[in-house]
Amino acid sequence: MNNKYKLIYEGKAKKVFSHEDADKVIIEFKDDATAFNALKKAKFKGKGKLNCLISAKLFELLINNNIPTHFLELENENTIIARKIKVIPLEIVLRNIAYGSLCKQTTLKPRTVLEKPLIDLYLKNDELNDPLITKDRIELMNILRSKDLDFIVDLTLKINEILKSFFKSIKLQLVDFKLEFGYDLKKNILLGDEISPDNCRLWDLNQNNDTIVSLDKDVFRNDSGGLIEAYSEINRRINDFI
Ligand code: TMP
Ligand code: ASP
Repeated sequence: MNNKYKLIYEGKAKKVFSHEDADKVIIEFKDDATAFNALKKAKFKGKGKLNCLISAKLFELLINNNIPTHFLELENENTIIARKIKVIPLEIVLRNIAYGSLCKQTTLKPRTVLEKPLIDLYLKNDELNDPLITKDRIELMNILRSKDLDFIVDLTLKINEILKSFFKSIKLQLVDFKLEFGYDLKKNILLGDEISPDNCRLWDLNQNNDTIVSLDKDVFRNDSGGLIEAYSEINRRINDFI
């Protein structure tokens, strides 16, 4: 990254740099992969580029459907320019199908199709291991106003409809995903972070039998396949379609 840009923040999968415009930032996608709150770590050459390209396309799709997001433009293969936001410390998970932690914490059987999407809220706090949190606890901690939380939940449901139907058209099932939101300098709520196989579960619908073929970070979490191969397949299908 060019020296004139100052590193503002480094997370597990991305670095955020200042931009000459005070209301913009430059976000660089790293090749690092982590799982289980970084207990498992690895580097995959080309992962940053794939997530950056995939995320840019999906943000463009959402913007075209009137979803307010931080995405402004792709700068190069592993960097985007985005609106500067103050990230709200919540992870909003939407589930269409029961899988992952939902099945470890409830009696729901894996692959149960949920009658309506389930929204699970988690506190974004590595020290506390991102605990599941309630609306009342969010209010108690003054994280955001109740009407802003309602707005975010509503936006997440709309995003699900857009992404679910898009992924279906490229023969992928959107099982669940995690979103993050933030406030821009004018206090508008924008979708932030990324949308990529790192934070979505995507199952291949091009299967004749009943086995689950994951094309997302579960291949790394469960050591069940090649991460670059899976992410490249997602990128290829998106580019063939858009
Ligand atoms: P879970 O079943 O482990 O709770 O994950 C639900 C979805 O959220 C899945 O698509 C992966 C995504 N996710 C993240 O993006 N970051 C996280 O830290 C976790 C735990 C899940
Ligand atoms: N994002 C989390 C981590 O970095 C966990 C996950 O995605 O499974 O460890």
